[in-house]
Amino acid sequence: MKKRMAYTALVVGVLSVGAAWAAEPIDTRTRLLAANCAYCHGPDGKSRGAIPSLAGLEKGYFIQQMKDFKSGARPATVMHQHAGGYTDEEVEKLAAWFAAVK
Ligand code: HEC
Repeated sequence: MKKRMAYTALVVGVLSVGAAWAAEPIDTRTRLLAANCAYCHGPDGKSRGAIPSLAGLEKGYFIQQMKDFKSGARPATVMHQHAGGYTDEEVEKLAAWFAAVK
């Protein structure tokens, strides 16, 4: 079921990013943002490989890591580039989203 939701989010994202961005409720938008992370962090942030899972990360910790990636305080291979693409508000929504994943 969760897999299916992530897949749907991806399809929706590809088909109608513009429309969804403007017209859909925040939740859908957050889901689309979170789908950007699935490629590396796994569906719903549950990683199957060496990359850390995001699912269930404490919100404050998540936000701090994103800030540290952005500022360069935490060295990273790829996350410093990713983190730079999100506003503080989006990071907060993503943090809440992944914290809520069981
Ligand atoms: C291209 C692969 C890739 C993508 C896409 C990606 N990440 Fe990451 N992420 C990594 C890697 C690799 C690390 C380990 C740090 C590093 O080397 O950059 C990481 C680490 C993290 C951490 C720290 C986890 C911890 O336990 O300390 C957070 C938080 C995070 N990513 C959030 C995100 C979010 C949010 C997105 C989507 C907006 C995202 N990542 C997309 C590869 C990726």
